[in-house]
Amino acid sequence: MSLSEQPATIPLVDLVTQSRNIKEEVLARMSEVIDSAGYILGKQVAEFEEAFATYCQVDHCVGLANGTDALHLALRALEIGPGDEVITAGNSFAATALAIHYCGAKAVLVDVCEDDFNIDPEAIELAISSRTKAIIPVHLYGQPAKMRQIAEIARQHGLRIVEDAAQAHGAEIDGKRCGSFGDIGCFSFYPGKNLGAFGDGGAAVTNDPELAQRMRLLRNYGQVVKNRHDILGFNCRLDSIQAAVLLTKMKYIEEWTERRREVAQWYREALSGSELLLPGQREDARHVYHLYVVRHPLRDQLIQFLADRNIQCGIHYPHPLSRAQPFENSPTFPEHLPRCTTFAEQIISLPMYPEMTRAQVDRVAAGIREFSSVAQVAAT
Ligand SMILES: Cc1ncc(COP(=O)(O)O)c(C=O)c1O
Repeated sequence: MSLSEQPATIPLVDLVTQSRNIKEEVLARMSEVIDSAGYILGKQVAEFEEAFATYCQVDHCVGLANGTDALHLALRALEIGPGDEVITAGNSFAATALAIHYCGAKAVLVDVCEDDFNIDPEAIELAISSRTKAIIPVHLYGQPAKMRQIAEIARQHGLRIVEDAAQAHGAEIDGKRCGSFGDIGCFSFYPGKNLGAFGDGGAAVTNDPELAQRMRLLRNYGQVVKNRHDILGFNCRLDSIQAAVLLTKMKYIEEWTERRREVAQWYREALSGSELLLPGQREDARHVYHLYVVRHPLRDQLIQFLADRNIQCGIHYPHPLSRAQPFENSPTFPEHLPRCTTFAEQIISLPMYPEMTRAQVDRVAAGIREFSSVAQVAAT
């Protein structure tokens, strides 16, 4: 096939189309920030915090510079520090465990469930020690973790819960939104997230007014009033410009989420009966498909085969966190994280974004079926 005959690229994520569709609205809101010069903690930040708290079904939202800061400040607000242990999933993005280490605490990494890629409540129980202070369940790929079981374990052992909902805006269990189950819920608005800024952004949500107030101090140099610093604070506020972008996008988040769920349904139909292991969709949960992650034993060959056909895929994430240098000494339960390790070798993130068309999904599925028949011939 000549270059001119190559089909158009199907990207893993398409931010260009979405931004083009809302550009004028976003620019109008950004102009308001520029005209008022309220760049830092301007009225757009307060407006966004109110809208996002309502969306998450909680009382308070604190706008922050990114999702990593949200996790870090949440743990600081809960007074987690040196000597403490925090249990989290071994298959998350590094930021989850980094935030634990920023506080001087130790990340304890546990294995995940076969059905939803999320932290395994039984493994959490194995990992609890006298030093354990908190659990960070991660709602990976947009699928809620088993929060009711996790909340019960936390209650029995007197542990705090910080939800890493960086990939799970609008995800639910029985109608209750992710971020509202634990003491604090943490979100990222990194551009590729389901609700993404035009740069970095993040937020922490909570029903506890004291925790919210502590995080407001922590994000603003620990300043109670100008030049009075009562605690060791940081500078990690959400920019007004980013809040203006997010406020505009809030209008569309539900529509985009439903589109993602429809794309997932198309994948399910188009790939049923294929060799791929498709993502489980729990009856009680609303998966918001930040990523559509499948498994295949010949993962690397399949990714290359699809790339040759202009279909871009990703791997989230290629190694368990225990393989990363900062967490080499982190305890693991069960030892060596058998499921995280297998998943890391087999997972593929297929293209997923709200603007994806049925024809694009069908082209991805056709590529996968073609790969299976070629691989079968090669094996005989
Ligand atoms: C699961 C998870 N946790 C934390 C983060 C950190 O968020 P940020 O990149 O906004 O710092 C991300 C996203 O990058 C993530 O996917």
